[in-house]
Amino acid sequence: MDGQRSGGGQGKQGGAQQVAHDASPVGFGACNARLGPAGFERFGSGGIRLHPTPMESRRRRPAAAPRHAQRHRPAHAGIRSAVQDTPTMHKRRILTGITTSGTPHLGNYVGAVRPAIAASRREDAESFYFLADYHALIKCGDPARVQRSTLEIAATWLACGLDPDKVFFYRQSDIPEIPELTWLLTCVTAKGLLNRAHAYKAAVDANTAAGEDVDAGVSAGLYMYPVLMAADILIFNAHEVPVGRDQIQHIEMARDIGQRFNHLYAEEYFTLPEARIEENVATLPGTDGRKMSKSYNNTIPLFESPAKLRSAIMGIVTDSRAPGEAKDTEGSNLFALYQAFATPAETASMRAVFAEGIGWGEAKQKLYERIEIELAPLRERYDALMTRPERIEDLLQAGAAKARARTQPFIARLRHAAGIRRLVDASAATVTAKVGAGAALPQLKSYREADGKFHFKLSDGDGTVLLASRGFDAPKEAGMLSAALIEAGGDVEAVRALLLDCAPADELALPAEPIAAALAALKADRLAKAQAKAR
Ligand code: TRP
Repeated sequence: MDGQRSGGGQGKQGGAQQVAHDASPVGFGACNARLGPAGFERFGSGGIRLHPTPMESRRRRPAAAPRHAQRHRPAHAGIRSAVQDTPTMHKRRILTGITTSGTPHLGNYVGAVRPAIAASRREDAESFYFLADYHALIKCGDPARVQRSTLEIAATWLACGLDPDKVFFYRQSDIPEIPELTWLLTCVTAKGLLNRAHAYKAAVDANTAAGEDVDAGVSAGLYMYPVLMAADILIFNAHEVPVGRDQIQHIEMARDIGQRFNHLYAEEYFTLPEARIEENVATLPGTDGRKMSKSYNNTIPLFESPAKLRSAIMGIVTDSRAPGEAKDTEGSNLFALYQAFATPAETASMRAVFAEGIGWGEAKQKLYERIEIELAPLRERYDALMTRPERIEDLLQAGAAKARARTQPFIARLRHAAGIRRLVDASAATVTAKVGAGAALPQLKSYREADGKFHFKLSDGDGTVLLASRGFDAPKEAGMLSAALIEAGGDVEAVRALLLDCAPADELALPAEPIAAALAALKADRLAKAQAKAR
């Protein structure tokens, strides 16, 4: 939707691919970037392989993710993190970021907002939608514009029906774990990988062609763009990222960077994300028939006045056939626009009146009326939301709190993995079971609460409760976690990591040592019993 910035939609891309490009739930670009056009180029998995992959054998679970035709999946398929995936195993996490540097137009609505909101109603998925304001800074140096765009985009999503209670809806800059992770990832990212990013390469090529210094006008922010985006995705261990083709390389880079971190620190911390290309979302042509894009100056406004909507529609370029002459639907941007809003029956009758020779003026009026039917109630909500920015701010704050319940414990694990640790944690201490002769064994019990959720509880030999788990929807989840805990036994670090997943969200500071000691006793007891049985 912003070819100038995101660099797709040209070169090798044909019409069909521009569909997906335009459908990208990406920035509603207004600010200009220093990014030239760059054709889509397959980015292989070889980019960041600085070393061979000695941890290969340590993977807990081999790749076995389902293949979906429309999913872009490189050969090196993903491995899941047993720990991180457990609580929401049955749900796929779908994440989308929107750069806050422009005002949404009709193309963004049809290509990104409307399908994403429909997808957010899926029960088998957890959806994450965020306002990528740190990304906006890379291409927009106008603070008022960034703030205004954040408000407009948030109001647009809410007006169009995004339910902040059902999804994670937050502003990137409210999640400090994202920039924190960005640094952890920066340190495992090969510079050469970033050299190969399309946006950066396009800038270098343009500079070279102009006889300038290769990096003239290129900020380090532009260069680092893919790492920040990888952090956005990996901090929530998203499975799927719906994007336009111009963003595929960024998702591949996120995979590479996440995989590199996993290898380096010898655990599957990150789920490797997949790009999901929306092949069947309509391309919305602009008034001149090219894809609707701010950079072509051919957009139709989304939430401006009905008068402005109407005059933009009246400005649609058509051929010169007079009223009474049959009109082609094939290749007609007016028809394509109509189809994007109409039911199949309405589309069929428009097709019929095209054949009967409807006048262009009349067809435009019909188009305006059809679009207005869909937009009018949304515009009313949008206008109401725009007058109360404090309400949107509150929603975003609540969204950030909900999101940080995930990111805070996760960044704690990641920091620890990388060696950013308290000195008392310096060695991966292992406690041994302190069960004296005759001491009662600790107990791990599962139970079901009145709300129908499954819990488990670990208590000491003397009955002191050491851990009361959060509630799980499925008994299997609770069972797997408690089994993993016993398996971890006296390994304090492993126990600490698992605790992040099984403790209630408000209890992040559970002391791992006594829990590990109790688990070690349980593990030893089970082992002894199993051995006795085998004999
Ligand atoms: N790069 C996206 C764009 O072109 C915006 C974005 C930032 C994003 N972070 C993301 C998209 C994470 C998907 C996932 O506007």
